[in-house]
Amino acid sequence: MGERAGSVAGVVVLAAGAGTRMKSSTSKLLHQVAGRSLLSHAVSAADALTPENLVVVVGHQREQVEDHLAEIAPHVVTTVQENQNGTGDAVRCGLAPLRDVQGEIVVTYGDVPLLTGETLVDLVSAHRAHGDAVTLLTAVLDNPTGYGRIVREADGDQVAAIVEQKDCSPEQAEITEINAGIYVFQADVLRDGLESLTTDNAQGELYLTDVVKFARGRGLNVHSMVLEDRWQTEGVNDRVQLAAMNREYNRRLVEKFQRAGVTIVDPATTWLHDTVDIAPDVTLLPGTSLEGATSIATGATIGPDTTLVDVEVGEGATVVRTHALLAVIGAGASVGPFAYLRPGTQLGAGGKIGTFVETKNAQIGADTKVSHLSYVGDATVGEGTNIGAGVIVANYDGVEKNRTVVGNHSFVGSDAVLVAPVTVADGAYVAAGSAVTEDVGPGELAIARGRQRNIPGWVESRRAGTKTHQAANDASANSEGTHLQ
Ligand code: UD1
Ligand code: MG
Repeated sequence: MGERAGSVAGVVVLAAGAGTRMKSSTSKLLHQVAGRSLLSHAVSAADALTPENLVVVVGHQREQVEDHLAEIAPHVVTTVQENQNGTGDAVRCGLAPLRDVQGEIVVTYGDVPLLTGETLVDLVSAHRAHGDAVTLLTAVLDNPTGYGRIVREADGDQVAAIVEQKDCSPEQAEITEINAGIYVFQADVLRDGLESLTTDNAQGELYLTDVVKFARGRGLNVHSMVLEDRWQTEGVNDRVQLAAMNREYNRRLVEKFQRAGVTIVDPATTWLHDTVDIAPDVTLLPGTSLEGATSIATGATIGPDTTLVDVEVGEGATVVRTHALLAVIGAGASVGPFAYLRPGTQLGAGGKIGTFVETKNAQIGADTKVSHLSYVGDATVGEGTNIGAGVIVANYDGVEKNRTVVGNHSFVGSDAVLVAPVTVADGAYVAAGSAVTEDVGPGELAIARGRQRNIPGWVESRRAGTKTHQAANDASANSEGTHLQ
Protein backbone atom coordinates (compact mmCIF):
# COMPACT_ATOMS: atom_id res chain seq x y z
CA MET A 1 0.00 0.00 0.00
CA GLY A 2 3.05 2.29 0.19
CA GLU A 3 2.00 3.94 3.45
CA ARG A 4 3.93 7.15 4.04
CA ALA A 5 6.03 7.35 7.20
CA GLY A 6 4.01 8.67 10.09
CA SER A 7 0.80 8.89 8.15
CA VAL A 8 -2.60 8.06 9.63
CA ALA A 9 -5.46 6.13 8.07
CA GLY A 10 -7.90 8.99 8.15
CA VAL A 11 -8.73 12.47 9.38
CA VAL A 12 -12.33 13.54 9.88
CA VAL A 13 -12.92 17.29 10.09
CA LEU A 14 -16.25 18.30 11.64
CA ALA A 15 -17.74 21.25 9.81
CA ALA A 16 -21.50 20.77 9.71
CA GLY A 17 -22.49 23.25 12.43
CA ALA A 18 -24.56 26.35 11.72
CA GLY A 19 -22.22 29.10 12.87
CA THR A 20 -25.29 31.18 13.77
CA ARG A 21 -23.41 33.73 15.85
CA MET A 22 -21.42 34.91 12.85
CA LYS A 23 -24.70 36.41 11.53
CA SER A 24 -23.42 35.90 8.02
CA SER A 25 -24.71 34.73 4.67
CA THR A 26 -21.23 33.28 4.20
CA SER A 27 -20.47 29.99 5.93
CA LYS A 28 -18.44 30.52 9.09
CA LEU A 29 -15.80 28.18 7.70
CA LEU A 30 -15.14 30.49 4.75
CA HIS A 31 -14.37 33.50 6.92
CA GLN A 32 -10.66 34.24 6.91
CA VAL A 33 -7.74 34.33 9.28
CA ALA A 34 -4.49 35.65 7.82
CA GLY A 35 -5.97 35.56 4.33
CA ARG A 36 -7.05 31.92 4.38
CA SER A 37 -10.42 30.41 5.27
CA LEU A 38 -10.87 28.72 8.64
CA LEU A 39 -11.39 25.50 6.70
CA SER A 40 -8.15 25.96 4.78
CA HIS A 41 -6.27 26.16 8.10
CA ALA A 42 -8.00 22.96 9.26
CA VAL A 43 -7.09 21.16 6.03
CA SER A 44 -3.44 22.30 6.25
CA ALA A 45 -3.15 21.02 9.81
CA ALA A 46 -4.71 17.71 8.77
CA ASP A 47 -2.38 17.43 5.77
CA ALA A 48 0.61 17.49 8.14
CA LEU A 49 -0.49 13.96 9.11
CA THR A 50 -0.33 12.83 5.46
CA PRO A 51 -3.64 11.02 5.92
CA GLU A 52 -4.64 8.24 3.55
CA ASN A 53 -8.16 9.71 3.68
CA LEU A 54 -9.25 13.22 4.54
CA VAL A 55 -12.99 13.64 5.09
CA VAL A 56 -14.83 16.87 5.85
CA VAL A 57 -18.33 16.53 7.31
CA VAL A 58 -20.51 19.29 5.89
CA GLY A 59 -24.08 20.36 6.67
CA HIS A 60 -25.12 23.98 6.97
CA GLN A 61 -24.39 26.06 3.85
CA ARG A 62 -22.86 22.92 2.41
CA GLU A 63 -22.83 24.09 -1.23
CA GLN A 64 -20.56 27.00 -0.31
CA VAL A 65 -18.31 24.76 1.75
CA GLU A 66 -18.13 22.07 -0.93
CA ASP A 67 -17.36 24.57 -3.70
CA HIS A 68 -14.63 26.13 -1.58
CA LEU A 69 -13.08 22.75 -0.79
CA ALA A 70 -13.14 21.73 -4.45
CA GLU A 71 -11.12 24.84 -5.16
CA ILE A 72 -8.56 24.78 -2.33
CA ALA A 73 -8.30 21.08 -1.49
CA PRO A 74 -9.51 18.75 -4.24
CA HIS A 75 -8.04 15.78 -2.36
CA VAL A 76 -10.69 16.15 0.35
CA VAL A 77 -13.77 13.92 0.38
CA THR A 78 -16.94 15.49 1.73
CA THR A 79 -19.83 13.76 3.41
CA VAL A 80 -23.12 15.25 4.51
CA GLN A 81 -24.63 15.31 8.00
CA GLU A 82 -28.29 16.13 7.34
CA ASN A 83 -29.30 16.98 10.91
CA GLN A 84 -26.85 18.28 13.48
CA ASN A 85 -27.53 15.63 16.04
CA GLY A 86 -24.25 15.97 17.90
CA THR A 87 -20.57 15.32 17.40
CA GLY A 88 -21.06 11.54 17.68
CA ASP A 89 -23.53 11.62 14.81
CA ALA A 90 -21.18 13.87 12.82
CA VAL A 91 -18.30 11.40 13.16
CA ARG A 92 -20.62 8.53 12.16
CA CYS A 93 -21.25 10.46 8.94
CA GLY A 94 -17.52 11.09 8.59
CA LEU A 95 -16.77 7.37 8.79
CA ALA A 96 -19.26 6.47 6.06
CA PRO A 97 -16.69 6.91 3.27
CA LEU A 98 -14.09 5.03 5.39
CA ARG A 99 -16.11 1.84 5.77
CA ASP A 100 -13.27 -0.70 5.94
CA VAL A 101 -10.45 1.55 6.99
CA GLN A 102 -8.38 0.29 9.93
CA GLY A 103 -5.74 2.06 11.99
CA GLU A 104 -5.77 5.58 13.35
CA ILE A 105 -8.57 8.07 12.77
CA VAL A 106 -7.98 11.67 13.84
CA VAL A 107 -11.03 13.84 14.54
CA THR A 108 -10.70 17.61 14.46
CA TYR A 109 -12.82 20.73 13.88
CA GLY A 110 -13.05 23.05 10.91
CA ASP A 111 -13.09 26.22 13.01
CA VAL A 112 -9.86 26.14 15.08
CA PRO A 113 -7.45 28.11 12.85
CA LEU A 114 -4.49 28.29 15.22
CA LEU A 115 -4.24 24.53 15.64
CA THR A 116 -1.00 23.49 13.95
CA GLY A 117 -0.02 20.39 12.07
CA GLU A 118 2.82 19.89 14.57
CA THR A 119 0.32 19.61 17.41
CA LEU A 120 -1.59 16.92 15.51
CA VAL A 121 1.66 15.08 14.77
CA ASP A 122 2.57 15.25 18.49
CA LEU A 123 -0.88 13.94 19.43
CA VAL A 124 -0.47 10.94 17.11
CA SER A 125 3.02 10.29 18.55
CA ALA A 126 1.60 10.34 22.10
CA HIS A 127 -1.16 7.96 20.96
CA ARG A 128 1.40 5.51 19.62
CA ALA A 129 3.72 5.85 22.62
CA HIS A 130 0.89 5.01 25.04
CA GLY A 131 -0.64 2.27 22.92
CA ASP A 132 -3.93 4.15 23.31
CA ALA A 133 -7.37 3.37 21.98
CA VAL A 134 -8.19 7.07 22.32
CA THR A 135 -5.88 10.07 22.85
CA LEU A 136 -7.32 13.50 23.28
CA LEU A 137 -6.02 17.02 23.28
CA THR A 138 -6.80 19.01 26.43
CA ALA A 139 -6.02 22.40 27.91
CA VAL A 140 -6.20 23.83 31.41
CA LEU A 141 -8.25 27.03 31.45
CA ASP A 142 -8.90 29.62 34.16
CA ASN A 143 -12.50 29.69 32.98
CA PRO A 144 -13.54 26.26 31.66
CA THR A 145 -17.23 27.20 31.31
CA GLY A 146 -18.91 25.68 28.26
CA TYR A 147 -16.33 22.99 27.59
CA GLY A 148 -16.43 19.26 28.31
CA ARG A 149 -14.49 18.49 31.52
CA ILE A 150 -11.79 15.84 31.78
CA VAL A 151 -12.52 13.36 34.57
CA ARG A 152 -9.38 11.38 35.40
CA GLU A 153 -8.92 7.94 36.93
CA ALA A 154 -8.03 7.89 40.62
CA ASP A 155 -4.32 7.49 39.80
CA GLY A 156 -4.51 10.64 37.63
CA ASP A 157 -2.93 8.93 34.63
CA GLN A 158 -5.74 7.90 32.31
CA VAL A 159 -8.92 9.74 31.36
CA ALA A 160 -12.05 8.07 32.74
CA ALA A 161 -14.65 10.21 30.99
CA ILE A 162 -15.50 13.56 29.45
CA VAL A 163 -18.50 15.29 30.98
CA GLU A 164 -20.23 18.07 29.07
CA GLN A 165 -20.92 21.38 30.82
CA LYS A 166 -24.67 20.78 30.89
CA ASP A 167 -24.23 17.32 32.41
CA CYS A 168 -21.68 18.33 35.06
CA SER A 169 -22.21 17.86 38.78
CA PRO A 170 -21.11 20.93 40.81
CA GLU A 171 -17.83 19.13 41.63
CA GLN A 172 -17.19 18.25 37.98
CA ALA A 173 -17.88 21.86 36.98
CA GLU A 174 -14.86 22.83 39.12
CA ILE A 175 -12.50 20.81 36.89
CA THR A 176 -10.32 23.16 34.83
CA GLU A 177 -8.89 20.62 32.37
CA ILE A 178 -11.09 20.77 29.27
CA ASN A 179 -11.60 18.72 26.13
CA ALA A 180 -10.38 20.56 23.03
CA GLY A 181 -12.44 18.27 20.81
CA ILE A 182 -9.43 16.91 18.93
CA TYR A 183 -8.72 13.18 19.16
CA VAL A 184 -6.89 10.17 17.79
CA PHE A 185 -8.96 6.96 17.80
CA GLN A 186 -8.26 3.39 16.83
CA ALA A 187 -10.79 2.92 14.03
CA ASP A 188 -12.40 -0.24 15.38
CA VAL A 189 -12.86 1.21 18.88
CA LEU A 190 -14.33 4.37 17.36
CA ARG A 191 -16.82 2.39 15.25
CA ASP A 192 -17.95 0.21 18.16
CA GLY A 193 -18.04 3.20 20.51
CA LEU A 194 -20.22 5.20 18.11
CA GLU A 195 -22.60 2.20 17.84
CA SER A 196 -23.01 2.27 21.63
CA LEU A 197 -23.94 5.97 21.91
CA THR A 198 -27.33 7.10 23.20
CA THR A 199 -28.98 10.51 23.44
CA ASP A 200 -29.56 10.03 27.15
CA ASN A 201 -27.96 13.34 28.17
CA ALA A 202 -28.83 16.96 28.91
CA GLN A 203 -28.73 18.00 25.22
CA GLY A 204 -30.37 14.88 23.78
CA GLU A 205 -27.44 14.55 21.32
CA LEU A 206 -25.05 11.80 20.37
CA TYR A 207 -21.84 12.78 22.16
CA LEU A 208 -18.56 11.73 20.56
CA THR A 209 -17.05 12.29 23.99
CA ASP A 210 -18.87 9.22 25.34
CA VAL A 211 -16.54 7.00 23.29
CA VAL A 212 -13.95 7.65 26.03
CA LYS A 213 -16.07 5.95 28.70
CA PHE A 214 -16.79 3.14 26.23
CA ALA A 215 -13.08 2.50 25.61
CA ARG A 216 -12.27 2.54 29.34
CA GLY A 217 -15.13 0.09 29.92
CA ARG A 218 -13.35 -2.30 27.58
CA GLY A 219 -10.16 -1.84 29.58
CA LEU A 220 -8.42 0.11 26.78
CA ASN A 221 -6.00 3.01 27.27
CA VAL A 222 -7.15 6.63 27.05
CA HIS A 223 -4.62 9.40 27.67
CA SER A 224 -4.67 13.13 27.16
CA MET A 225 -2.01 15.46 25.82
CA VAL A 226 -2.22 18.79 27.64
CA LEU A 227 -1.51 21.74 25.38
CA GLU A 228 0.06 24.82 26.97
CA ASP A 229 -0.83 27.01 24.02
CA ARG A 230 -4.55 27.54 24.64
CA TRP A 231 -5.03 29.53 21.40
CA GLN A 232 -4.61 26.33 19.42
CA THR A 233 -7.72 24.81 20.94
CA GLU A 234 -9.93 27.86 20.51
CA GLY A 235 -12.75 27.95 17.99
CA VAL A 236 -14.26 30.91 16.18
CA ASN A 237 -17.94 31.47 16.90
CA ASP A 238 -18.50 35.16 16.28
CA ARG A 239 -16.74 38.10 14.67
CA VAL A 240 -15.23 39.27 17.94
CA GLN A 241 -13.41 35.95 18.23
CA LEU A 242 -12.56 36.10 14.53
CA ALA A 243 -10.77 39.42 15.05
CA ALA A 244 -9.01 38.16 18.18
CA MET A 245 -7.86 35.08 16.27
CA ASN A 246 -6.61 37.20 13.36
CA ARG A 247 -4.71 39.44 15.76
CA GLU A 248 -3.03 36.48 17.45
CA TYR A 249 -2.27 34.66 14.21
CA ASN A 250 -0.77 37.85 12.83
CA ARG A 251 1.31 38.37 15.98
CA ARG A 252 2.76 34.90 15.46
CA LEU A 253 3.50 35.48 11.77
CA VAL A 254 5.15 38.83 12.49
CA GLU A 255 7.31 37.25 15.15
CA LYS A 256 8.28 34.40 12.80
CA PHE A 257 9.50 36.89 10.18
CA GLN A 258 11.25 39.06 12.76
CA ARG A 259 13.17 36.00 13.98
CA ALA A 260 14.07 35.26 10.37
CA GLY A 261 15.65 38.69 9.93
CA VAL A 262 12.84 41.02 8.81
CA THR A 263 12.58 44.43 10.50
CA ILE A 264 8.95 45.09 11.39
CA VAL A 265 8.74 48.47 13.07
CA ASP A 266 5.15 48.23 14.33
CA PRO A 267 3.73 44.71 14.70
CA ALA A 268 0.36 46.13 15.77
CA THR A 269 -0.30 47.81 12.41
CA THR A 270 1.49 45.36 10.14
CA TRP A 271 -0.83 42.70 8.73
CA LEU A 272 0.50 39.66 6.92
CA HIS A 273 -1.19 36.85 5.10
CA ASP A 274 -0.05 33.35 5.75
CA THR A 275 0.89 33.08 2.08
CA VAL A 276 3.47 35.87 1.80
CA ASP A 277 7.21 35.46 1.43
CA ILE A 278 9.55 38.06 2.96
CA ALA A 279 13.34 37.82 2.70
CA PRO A 280 15.80 38.74 5.47
CA ASP A 281 16.79 42.43 5.70
CA VAL A 282 13.46 43.67 4.42
CA THR A 283 12.02 46.59 6.40
CA LEU A 284 8.27 46.91 6.90
CA LEU A 285 7.13 50.32 8.13
CA PRO A 286 3.90 50.96 10.09
CA GLY A 287 0.54 50.46 8.39
CA THR A 288 1.72 47.83 5.90
CA SER A 289 -0.48 44.94 4.69
CA LEU A 290 1.07 42.19 2.60
CA GLU A 291 -1.51 39.87 1.10
CA GLY A 292 -1.94 36.85 -1.14
CA ALA A 293 1.11 35.64 -3.04
CA THR A 294 3.17 38.75 -2.31
CA SER A 295 6.93 38.28 -2.12
CA ILE A 296 9.52 40.84 -1.02
CA ALA A 297 13.21 40.42 -1.87
CA THR A 298 16.04 41.34 0.46
CA GLY A 299 16.85 44.95 1.18
CA ALA A 300 13.46 46.30 0.13
CA THR A 301 11.59 48.81 2.28
CA ILE A 302 7.79 48.76 2.27
CA GLY A 303 5.51 51.39 3.82
CA PRO A 304 4.40 53.27 5.69
CA ASP A 305 0.71 52.80 4.87
CA THR A 306 1.07 50.38 1.98
CA THR A 307 -1.09 47.47 0.82
CA LEU A 308 0.37 44.94 -1.60
CA VAL A 309 -1.80 42.11 -2.93
CA ASP A 310 -0.09 39.47 -5.09
CA VAL A 311 2.87 41.77 -5.72
CA GLU A 312 6.49 40.78 -6.35
CA VAL A 313 9.01 43.35 -5.08
CA GLY A 314 12.67 43.11 -6.17
CA GLU A 315 15.83 43.55 -4.12
CA GLY A 316 16.36 46.94 -2.57
CA ALA A 317 13.18 48.50 -3.96
CA THR A 318 11.24 51.09 -1.96
CA VAL A 319 7.45 51.23 -1.94
CA VAL A 320 5.96 54.14 0.00
CA ARG A 321 2.24 54.82 0.72
CA THR A 322 1.13 52.62 -2.17
CA HIS A 323 -1.78 50.37 -3.06
CA ALA A 324 -0.76 47.65 -5.54
CA LEU A 325 -2.41 44.56 -6.97
CA LEU A 326 -0.90 41.83 -9.17
CA ALA A 327 2.15 43.90 -9.98
CA VAL A 328 5.89 43.30 -10.33
CA ILE A 329 8.31 45.93 -9.01
CA GLY A 330 11.91 45.54 -10.16
CA ALA A 331 15.10 45.57 -8.11
CA GLY A 332 16.09 49.00 -6.88
CA ALA A 333 12.88 50.55 -8.21
CA SER A 334 11.01 53.28 -6.37
CA VAL A 335 7.23 53.50 -6.00
CA GLY A 336 5.12 56.22 -4.37
CA PRO A 337 4.36 58.04 -2.23
CA PHE A 338 0.67 57.82 -3.19
CA ALA A 339 0.86 55.42 -6.13
CA TYR A 340 -1.83 52.99 -7.33
CA LEU A 341 -0.51 49.99 -9.28
CA ARG A 342 -3.31 47.95 -10.80
CA PRO A 343 -3.07 44.42 -12.24
CA GLY A 344 -0.48 43.86 -14.94
CA THR A 345 1.87 46.62 -13.88
CA GLN A 346 5.55 45.68 -14.34
CA LEU A 347 8.19 48.16 -13.36
CA GLY A 348 11.78 47.41 -14.46
CA ALA A 349 14.90 47.55 -12.32
CA GLY A 350 15.75 51.05 -11.14
CA GLY A 351 12.49 52.45 -12.52
CA LYS A 352 10.18 54.88 -10.80
CA ILE A 353 6.42 55.18 -10.42
CA GLY A 354 6.10 58.32 -8.36
CA THR A 355 3.56 60.50 -6.61
CA PHE A 356 -0.12 60.34 -7.61
CA VAL A 357 0.58 57.95 -10.47
CA GLU A 358 -1.86 55.20 -11.51
CA THR A 359 -0.78 52.33 -13.74
CA LYS A 360 -2.62 49.35 -15.21
CA ASN A 361 -1.47 46.59 -17.57
CA ALA A 362 1.67 48.60 -18.19
CA GLN A 363 5.20 47.33 -18.76
CA ILE A 364 7.59 50.09 -17.77
CA GLY A 365 11.24 49.43 -18.58
CA ALA A 366 14.38 49.59 -16.47
CA ASP A 367 15.41 53.08 -15.32
CA THR A 368 12.27 54.63 -16.80
CA LYS A 369 10.62 57.29 -14.67
CA VAL A 370 6.94 58.14 -14.37
CA SER A 371 7.45 60.57 -11.55
CA HIS A 372 4.36 62.69 -11.00
CA LEU A 373 0.59 62.83 -11.55
CA SER A 374 0.21 60.38 -14.45
CA TYR A 375 -2.06 57.63 -15.71
CA VAL A 376 -0.35 54.89 -17.72
CA GLY A 377 -2.70 52.10 -18.87
CA ASP A 378 -2.37 49.39 -21.54
CA ALA A 379 1.10 50.61 -22.43
CA THR A 380 4.61 49.39 -23.01
CA VAL A 381 7.36 51.86 -22.20
CA GLY A 382 11.01 51.07 -22.95
CA GLU A 383 14.15 51.62 -20.88
CA GLY A 384 15.64 54.89 -19.70
CA THR A 385 12.62 56.90 -20.81
CA ASN A 386 11.19 59.91 -19.00
CA ILE A 387 7.45 60.34 -18.77
CA GLY A 388 6.92 63.93 -17.64
CA ALA A 389 4.63 65.26 -14.94
CA GLY A 390 0.94 64.93 -15.72
CA VAL A 391 1.30 62.70 -18.79
CA ILE A 392 -1.89 60.77 -19.51
CA VAL A 393 -2.17 57.67 -21.65
CA ALA A 394 -5.68 57.85 -23.11
CA ASN A 395 -6.20 54.11 -23.55
CA TYR A 396 -10.00 54.07 -23.83
CA ASP A 397 -11.92 55.53 -26.75
CA GLY A 398 -15.28 54.89 -25.15
CA VAL A 399 -15.65 51.52 -26.84
CA GLU A 400 -12.31 49.76 -26.81
CA LYS A 401 -9.04 49.78 -24.92
CA ASN A 402 -6.01 50.34 -27.16
CA ARG A 403 -2.28 50.01 -26.60
CA THR A 404 0.37 52.68 -26.46
CA VAL A 405 4.06 52.02 -27.05
CA VAL A 406 6.89 54.35 -26.05
CA GLY A 407 10.44 53.30 -26.95
CA ASN A 408 13.80 53.43 -25.18
CA HIS A 409 15.48 56.67 -24.07
CA SER A 410 12.56 58.79 -25.20
CA PHE A 411 11.13 61.87 -23.51
CA VAL A 412 7.45 62.63 -23.17
CA GLY A 413 6.98 66.23 -22.00
CA SER A 414 4.75 67.29 -19.16
CA ASP A 415 1.00 67.21 -19.59
CA ALA A 416 1.14 65.36 -22.91
CA VAL A 417 -1.76 63.06 -23.79
CA LEU A 418 -0.86 59.94 -25.76
CA VAL A 419 -4.09 58.91 -27.52
CA ALA A 420 -4.03 55.15 -28.10
CA PRO A 421 -3.31 53.35 -30.31
CA VAL A 422 -0.10 55.28 -30.83
CA THR A 423 3.66 54.63 -30.87
CA VAL A 424 6.46 56.94 -29.83
CA ALA A 425 9.67 55.40 -31.17
CA ASP A 426 13.07 54.95 -29.49
CA GLY A 427 14.93 58.20 -29.07
CA ALA A 428 11.95 60.48 -29.73
CA TYR A 429 10.62 63.60 -28.02
CA VAL A 430 7.07 64.74 -27.39
CA ALA A 431 6.69 68.42 -26.53
CA ALA A 432 4.96 69.39 -23.30
CA GLY A 433 1.22 69.84 -23.60
CA SER A 434 0.93 67.85 -26.83
CA ALA A 435 -2.06 65.68 -27.69
CA VAL A 436 -0.34 62.92 -29.67
CA THR A 437 -2.60 61.03 -32.07
CA GLU A 438 -0.07 59.97 -34.70
CA ASP A 439 3.04 57.84 -34.39
CA VAL A 440 6.33 59.62 -33.68
CA GLY A 441 9.45 58.29 -35.43
CA PRO A 442 12.98 57.78 -34.05
CA GLY A 443 14.77 61.07 -33.44
CA GLU A 444 11.66 63.17 -34.12
CA LEU A 445 10.12 65.84 -31.91
CA ALA A 446 6.33 65.84 -31.95
CA ILE A 447 4.58 69.09 -31.13
CA ALA A 448 0.82 68.95 -31.17
CA ARG A 449 -0.51 72.06 -29.48
CA GLY A 450 -1.69 75.59 -30.36
CA ARG A 451 1.12 78.07 -31.06
CA GLN A 452 1.46 80.79 -28.40
CA ARG A 453 0.32 84.37 -29.22
CA ASN A 454 0.89 87.36 -26.84
CA ILE A 455 -1.45 90.41 -27.09
CA PRO A 456 0.30 93.58 -25.89
CA GLY A 457 -1.77 96.10 -23.83
CA TRP A 458 -4.60 93.61 -23.16
CA VAL A 459 -4.57 94.25 -19.37
CA GLU A 460 -4.62 98.01 -19.79
CA SER A 461 -7.59 97.88 -22.15
CA ARG A 462 -9.64 95.17 -20.39
CA ARG A 463 -8.59 95.32 -16.70
CA ALA A 464 -7.77 98.97 -16.14
CA GLY A 465 -7.66 100.04 -12.48
CA THR A 466 -7.05 96.55 -11.09
CA LYS A 467 -4.06 95.46 -9.03
CA THR A 468 -3.02 93.46 -12.06
CA HIS A 469 -2.96 96.64 -14.11
CA GLN A 470 -0.94 98.38 -11.36
CA ALA A 471 1.54 95.50 -11.23
CA ALA A 472 1.94 95.60 -15.01
CA ASN A 473 2.59 99.35 -14.91
CA ASP A 474 5.14 98.92 -12.09
CA ALA A 475 6.91 96.14 -13.98
CA SER A 476 7.09 98.20 -17.18
CA ALA A 477 8.38 101.26 -15.27
CA ASN A 478 11.05 99.12 -13.59
CA SER A 479 12.17 97.54 -16.81
CA GLU A 480 12.23 100.97 -18.52
CA GLY A 481 14.20 102.32 -15.51
CA THR A 482 16.70 99.54 -15.87
CA HIS A 483 16.99 100.17 -19.54
CA LEU A 484 17.52 103.92 -19.02
CA GLN A 485 20.38 103.47 -16.61
C1 UD1 B 1 -17.61 19.77 21.91
C2 UD1 B 1 -17.31 18.66 22.91
C3 UD1 B 1 -16.75 19.28 24.19
C4 UD1 B 1 -15.53 20.12 23.88
C5 UD1 B 1 -15.86 21.15 22.82
C6 UD1 B 1 -14.60 21.86 22.38
C7 UD1 B 1 -18.94 16.95 22.43
C8 UD1 B 1 -20.19 16.28 22.86
N1 UD1 B 1 -18.52 17.92 23.18
O1 UD1 B 1 -18.58 20.62 22.48
O2 UD1 B 1 -16.40 18.24 25.10
O3 UD1 B 1 -15.08 20.76 25.06
O4 UD1 B 1 -16.43 20.51 21.67
O5 UD1 B 1 -14.91 22.88 21.51
O6 UD1 B 1 -18.35 16.56 21.45
N2 UD1 B 1 -20.54 19.62 14.75
C9 UD1 B 1 -21.04 18.98 13.66
N3 UD1 B 1 -22.22 18.32 13.76
C10 UD1 B 1 -22.90 18.28 14.91
C11 UD1 B 1 -22.39 18.94 16.04
C12 UD1 B 1 -21.18 19.59 15.93
O7 UD1 B 1 -20.43 18.99 12.58
O8 UD1 B 1 -23.99 17.64 14.93
C13 UD1 B 1 -19.26 20.32 14.63
C14 UD1 B 1 -19.43 21.81 14.78
O9 UD1 B 1 -19.55 22.43 13.52
C15 UD1 B 1 -18.14 22.21 15.45
C16 UD1 B 1 -17.74 20.98 16.23
O10 UD1 B 1 -18.44 19.91 15.68
O11 UD1 B 1 -17.10 22.49 14.53
C17 UD1 B 1 -18.01 21.12 17.71
O12 UD1 B 1 -19.35 21.37 17.92
P1 UD1 B 1 -19.81 22.36 19.08
O13 UD1 B 1 -21.29 22.31 19.16
O14 UD1 B 1 -19.14 23.65 18.94
O15 UD1 B 1 -19.13 21.70 20.34
P2 UD1 B 1 -19.84 21.15 21.61
O16 UD1 B 1 -20.70 20.01 21.22
O17 UD1 B 1 -20.46 22.25 22.33
MG1 MG C 1 -22.90 21.47 20.48
